[in-house]
This record gives sequence, structure tokens and C-alpha cells, in this order.
Amino acid sequence: MIITIDGPAGAGKSTVAKNLAVELGFDYLDTGAMYRAVALAGLRNDIHWENSNELTALAEQLPIHVQSGRTFLGDEDVSEAVRSVEVTEKTWFSANNPAIRALMVRCQQEQARGKNIVTEGRDQGTAVFPDAECKIYLTATPEERVKRRVSEYQKRGETANYDEILRQINQRDTSDMNRKVGPLCEPINAIHIETDNMSIDDVVGTLVKIVKSRFL
Ligand code: DC
Repeated sequence: MIITIDGPAGAGKSTVAKNLAVELGFDYLDTGAMYRAVALAGLRNDIHWENSNELTALAEQLPIHVQSGRTFLGDEDVSEAVRSVEVTEKTWFSANNPAIRALMVRCQQEQARGKNIVTEGRDQGTAVFPDAECKIYLTATPEERVKRRVSEYQKRGETANYDEILRQINQRDTSDMNRKVGPLCEPINAIHIETDNMSIDDVVGTLVKIVKSRFL
């Protein structure tokens, strides 16, 4: 069974998806981390960002895989490295590159084959798994999402400027919703949850109840 969770940056998708997967005994796939891993490799290889073919050629060679919710480049666990501010800024180039999206979509479908899995991203219930049994759309106001991102960075000891993160989130919303391939949009028939006044546990608890009563 496939459960997709889509929604904008900072809606709480990663933590909710991880915890929901644990509660249900499902695997978990963080597809944003895959686009981030391509950007991390681009930074390490000092690529010319304006040359989209260069990043595509690099992505085609990358040994990206996801295991137990961790993201790897070959043997290296890059799950933390892909969350830096620098990588976040450059991920635009991989997420908006149609050839890289096609590669990632194939890889995500491959990773999910035959599994019970919770998969999260922007296009999971629409482009990647249009036939998923259960589709969830998580969202929150931009102000709430910025607060969450700032505290995420602070927990990792990185400095975070509220206005800068707000600018980044608005920019990413615009780019995620308007790209030609795999844009962020709410899947038809998705379970829609506004998370502003909910804790992670509230959201996970609500979803566990819905999934168990309607789908299992
Ligand atoms: O969820 P996140 O912040 O880790 O995602 C990083 C970037 O990747 C974000 O700009 C949106 C993009 N992304 C995407 O285009 N498609 C996905 N399935 C997942 C993430």
C-alpha cells in the first residue's frame, strides 16, 4: 500500500511521514532529500549551475539511494548534509530540471515497488503515484512554516534569519507551484490537513486513525 504526503515547505511533512510510517510499520521515502542530494553533489563538484546539462549528467551518475529513511550517496549517509542552508538554496536547480525529475520519479517508483510505504514530497500523489490508495495534503500558513524552519536550523546550530527564511519559503512555494513538470498541487480526493494549531503528535494521531479506519 502506498500513502502519499504532499504539501509546501515547512508544513511538517517529513516528521509526520516518518512518524506515521513507524506507527503503521511502513517504509518511509523522503523524496525532497533526493533532489537535495543532487544539489549537494553539484556543490561538491563545483558545477556551473546555469548549465542544466552539467547537473543532469552528474545526477545520472549519482548512486543515490534511500534506506530506512536515510539518504545515501554511495556509502555516505548524507541525510544531515542535505539539510544545510547552502544545499537548500541550490536544490531549486535539481527540482526544476525536467530530466532530473524524470530520473527521480523512476527511482522513487522503483524504491516503492512491492512495499507498504509512506512517501512524501510535492508530486507524490499526482505525478509519481497517481494510483496511491491514500493521499494526504499537509499545509500551514507561511508564517507558521517559517517559524518551524527557523527552529529546525537553530536546533542544528545554524544561524537562521526569519526574514531570509520567509523570502526563501515564498520563493520556493512560487517555484514549486508553477514549474511545468511535477508542480505542487493538491491531489484530487486528498485528505487535507491544516497543521497551524496542531502538534506533530496531533497530526500523526489523526492520520493513524483515518488510515486504520478507511484503508487497512
Ligand atoms: O521537502 P524538502 O524541503 O526537502 O524539498 C526540497 C526541495 O525539493 C523543494 O524545493 C521542493 C523539491 N521537491 C520536489 O520538487 N519534488 C519532490 N517530490 C520533493 C521535493
